[in-house]
Amino acid sequence: MVPAHVPADRIVDFDLFNPPGVFQDYFASWKTLLDGPGLVWTTANGGHWIGARGDVVRSLWGDAERLSSECLAVTPGLGEVMEFIPLQSDGDDHKAFRMPVMKGFASRYIVALEPKVREVARELISDIEPRSECDFVADFAEILPLNIFLTLIDVPLEDRPRLRELGVQLTRPDGSMTVEQLKQAADDYLWPFIEQRMAQPGDDLFSRILSEPVNGREWTVDEARRMCRNLLFGGLDTVAAMIGMVALHLARHPEDQRDLRNSPELIPAAADELMRRYPTVAVSRNAIADIDIDGVTIRKGDLVYLPSVLHNLDPASFDAPEEVRFDRALTPLRHTTMGAGPHRCVGAGLARMEVIVFMQEWLGAMPEFRLHPDRPVTMKGGNVGACTALPLVW
Ligand code: HEM
Repeated sequence: MVPAHVPADRIVDFDLFNPPGVFQDYFASWKTLLDGPGLVWTTANGGHWIGARGDVVRSLWGDAERLSSECLAVTPGLGEVMEFIPLQSDGDDHKAFRMPVMKGFASRYIVALEPKVREVARELISDIEPRSECDFVADFAEILPLNIFLTLIDVPLEDRPRLRELGVQLTRPDGSMTVEQLKQAADDYLWPFIEQRMAQPGDDLFSRILSEPVNGREWTVDEARRMCRNLLFGGLDTVAAMIGMVALHLARHPEDQRDLRNSPELIPAAADELMRRYPTVAVSRNAIADIDIDGVTIRKGDLVYLPSVLHNLDPASFDAPEEVRFDRALTPLRHTTMGAGPHRCVGAGLARMEVIVFMQEWLGAMPEFRLHPDRPVTMKGGNVGACTALPLVW
């Protein structure tokens, strides 16, 4: 049932988990909404608003006064099960939790981590290069962020394979595990490390965050679990999806590969531009007050969905938004790939460093690569869109 306050000309049927044509092209499937009004109501998934124009997406994303992050609502049951910290908190609570997490991700730590990221990337590439083909998603994109995450929390190498299966479920769920089972498996894996870091802090990320007070007091065990869970779930499929999109772009554009190989100093700016061009994260909010926007009213209690793709690829946000221009002179704050407002990604610096190091190492070690001529690229929708298969040859 469409609520009475939704005008008829705003109603669409758009399933964010399976938008039309997403299997072939995530971006093209979402972009169909840019042709209509700035805010639409989809009847799919129980009914909710979708911000469908750049200015609307951006302004609602920044409106933490009237839009709550507590429930992660459009995916049924996800919010109740995950209880992420800091993602699912608002206002002063959010500030209190976010502060220690931000300190843990301070740029000096990210800089110190770079050699490790490089080492992991090199190791993977040296395995892949002699094969002259790979499925980039399964062979690289899914593995790099998982290994980096385990490095962040200082998990010994021999313990890593245990999280590999779970990592695959997190980045490419095949339906064999429920959300509850996934959460439990992640908690079971992480708990011994969290417990140890709480008792005897080291200089890993978890220890650093957990030794920072929350509003002047210590973290509780429950809060520590929820925060670690947020970092695990927030930093795997997002990075895997981004690296996949960067590789897809480079495979389709050998001229960009050549430019970046000849002028590697362009890579940081190229990473910023590719991260703008290929955004695949979208978020849910719950209205806690009425909001008048784009000629309609979002009523208290309504759900609102905000896809960064409809901000970044709106021609009103960026000139010729689908063109990749390494000289756009962007600042990462201009686009919404990493969100906007008080919940903007705490891992943004780490993610950017991972993308840059991936590009430097991959382009430095691999010959020119292209899409496999006989095996298709496939994609998926959902809160984090991604390539599900990216067969490459060289
Ligand atoms: C390219 C990779 C990434 C993308 C595209 C991305 C995207 C985002 C976005 C859009 C948000 C805002 C969520 C909202 O407004 O509700 C966010 C928040 C967050 N991200 Fe990331 N992220 C990435 C990498 C990471 C990494 C590597 C980590 C940590 C290991 C991480 C941890 C988090 C956390 C904890 C939050 C919640 C922040 C808060 O609520 O204050 N992310 N991310």
